[in-house]
Amino acid sequence: MKDENQTREALKRLEDLFSFSLRDAQQFIALFHDEMQRGLAGKPGSLKMIPSYVGRPSGHERGDFLALDLGGTNLRVLAVRLDGEGKARITAFRRWVIPEKIMQGTGEALFDFMAEGVALFLDQMPPDSPQLRELAFTFSFPVAQSAVDAGVLLNWTKGFTAKGVSGKEVVALLSAALAHKNMPDLRVVALTNDTVGTLMAQSYTDPACDMGVILGTGTNACYPEKAGRIAKLAHLEADREVIVNLEWGSFDRIQMNAFDSALDSHTLNPGAQRLEKMVSGLYLGELARRVALDLIDAGVFLRQEARIIFEREQAVTSEHLSQIAEGEDVLTRLGVSGPTSQDCALFAGVSRVVTTRAARIAAAAIAAGVTWMDADLQRRHTIAIDGSLFEKCPGFQETMEALLIELFGDRATGITLCHAADGSGIGAAIIAAVAAGALRQI
Ligand code: BGC
Repeated sequence: MKDENQTREALKRLEDLFSFSLRDAQQFIALFHDEMQRGLAGKPGSLKMIPSYVGRPSGHERGDFLALDLGGTNLRVLAVRLDGEGKARITAFRRWVIPEKIMQGTGEALFDFMAEGVALFLDQMPPDSPQLRELAFTFSFPVAQSAVDAGVLLNWTKGFTAKGVSGKEVVALLSAALAHKNMPDLRVVALTNDTVGTLMAQSYTDPACDMGVILGTGTNACYPEKAGRIAKLAHLEADREVIVNLEWGSFDRIQMNAFDSALDSHTLNPGAQRLEKMVSGLYLGELARRVALDLIDAGVFLRQEARIIFEREQAVTSEHLSQIAEGEDVLTRLGVSGPTSQDCALFAGVSRVVTTRAARIAAAAIAAGVTWMDADLQRRHTIAIDGSLFEKCPGFQETMEALLIELFGDRATGITLCHAADGSGIGAAIIAAVAAGALRQI
């Protein structure tokens, strides 16, 4: 029979294993700066630091644009209206869950799926709606951009493996798929990462915004950098602002524990995206599942009969962790019969240690970005954040803010974490407006 002491001890062990202390955060920031420096200088390292070929918007961009957003779990198509006075509005919207066979099939099938989404969306637009001829493509994977409307996929992340896309120019693939579906008039005018979209959307109205962050299926961030600090852009004026996509999901100078390593070795990209696998929504439920199995085997959690429920990969998702944080009985929902209150407390503890570490690492990465731009925190910084984890996991934001206070004391009040809903689609439209040189009348 399990007693309270065993539960308490098991929890204590997990807290130690998943701890990310203030000291860890400080070391993390120093290593992160080092990797940022290497990435900007074009030296090998784990932060790609990809220039995006856009700066922040003025707020005067205007027009109607179509945005196509391929992120993690969903494909979204949006019509966005920019009014030129810092206001952006989504006027129509559709979303499809991306089937696994499309994520892991051929590149052709994936791009056809996207073009089909655009065609269905346009077919259903009311006849009197504005003509949408310029499309902004949010493609949220590591892409080496060569222009505002061109870039090559470096590698897939987040469970995508569609064949024949890595190493290819993705705007060309999309344009071909659109032409194939009889939409040759639609022009892809901008290619962007979701973090850049999120930063653009927030800074359309808030000039203090200088970081875009995604905490969802995957994780990443971008910030404005001076061209003079980017080796690849040595030909531009040194002071010109360029938004840099950090691709922080691949940061690898961070200690993994045995559960992280076991999870990593069962992914489609073992060894890659280390930080993402400790922080983002695609992986947190899976980490908790692995810990739960271990606790069952150690005889401190549930009964052996319940093991089968936890044997299937992805049986626990980050949505489950959010529900646990809301106080729901997720064990019963997963099919466990008659969990004891100690079982529920231990499972809640597992969920808490996994999500707390994720939030603290994310906050440390933000702290690294902010201090890179402003070492003494002399300015205000709005951090625009989107993604299901930030939005839906109770306590995530508060845990992040708590680490910023541990790090910076009172000066942390100058850093505002703000939820930028739908930023990636709206921001893509803003980039399209900049790219299309559109300061025109609606
Ligand atoms: C991708 C990034 C993206 C992030 C959030 C990561 O897996 O590499 O490009 O911004 O997910 O969607």
